[in-house]
Amino acid sequence: MVTRSVTATAPGKINVCLRVGPLRDDGYHDVATIYQAVSLLEEVTATESADFTASFSGPIDTSHLTVDESNLVIRAARAVAAASGYTGGADIQVVKRVPIAGGMGGGSADAAATLVAVDALWGTNLGMPTLAEIAATLGADVPFALHGGTALGVGRGDVLSPVLAKSTFHWVLVLNEVGLSTPDVFRQLDRHRAEHSIEIETVAIEPAIDPNLLQALRSGDAKALAEYLRNDLQAAALQLMPNLGETLEFGETHGALAGIVSGSGPTVALLVADEDSAVSLAASLTADGRNAISVSAPALGARLD
Ligand code: C5P
Repeated sequence: MVTRSVTATAPGKINVCLRVGPLRDDGYHDVATIYQAVSLLEEVTATESADFTASFSGPIDTSHLTVDESNLVIRAARAVAAASGYTGGADIQVVKRVPIAGGMGGGSADAAATLVAVDALWGTNLGMPTLAEIAATLGADVPFALHGGTALGVGRGDVLSPVLAKSTFHWVLVLNEVGLSTPDVFRQLDRHRAEHSIEIETVAIEPAIDPNLLQALRSGDAKALAEYLRNDLQAAALQLMPNLGETLEFGETHGALAGIVSGSGPTVALLVADEDSAVSLAASLTADGRNAISVSAPALGARLD
């Protein structure tokens, strides 16, 4: 008997803008964010199996990842089985390119690609709306990894609407050897806001996106977009990892239009005018001993290979 396998990919993301409201009762923060999927793809191969197993390989060090039931890819596969009544399992092999704990939604991309892969492998045909519902139960960023492109995320970041982004944007990502924990960075923001209780009044109850940012995306104007990059988690990430400030400064003095910490960090995303500028900035960063990758955006969401 031939063992069947299905491969799917899903993109990492950056947050072009991330506005964070106050802490909610459920431990999440209301956000308003513009996600952009980038051409750094996770690749997930699901193979028929009686059990649920997972393994990780790829260009980044995956040796410390736990592959037990707590892993998001196993939870994703089990959720599809539960929703469809499928009684078998799957072996999930992930080729990781998106940094771990990097603020780029790598784990979320693994989960999104797993949803698509096992749904096709098992022929359960749940369809995108159901897969999107399951995605939201797995994490705030998982629906976006399924969706891809450029999108507005509100609520926990899981309620999406597409945003028109004309043409291609070019980014240089600077990866960090050490990761940051997303809950830690949100907690640091809360602490900082509590310590500066006067400014807390300026924290918008309902975070919103500047319409000028949406216009810059619509017109495909990287220079205009550079004016409106904003991340409310950036100060918290910089407090936890002060060397990120040097990376941002290096990027901005070596050809980037602007730089931003991606999501909860520590990956730094540097926006450049075009592909040539990306190649030359990545070369300068590499020569300075940093781990830089050029990507284009927006990229497509989770799909079969
Ligand atoms: O949903 P996900 O597992 O990706 O979220 C990880 C953690 O990040 C949450 O438990 C929460 O502490 C924090 N978070 C938040 N507000 C959000 C998204 C994430 O506080 N909108």
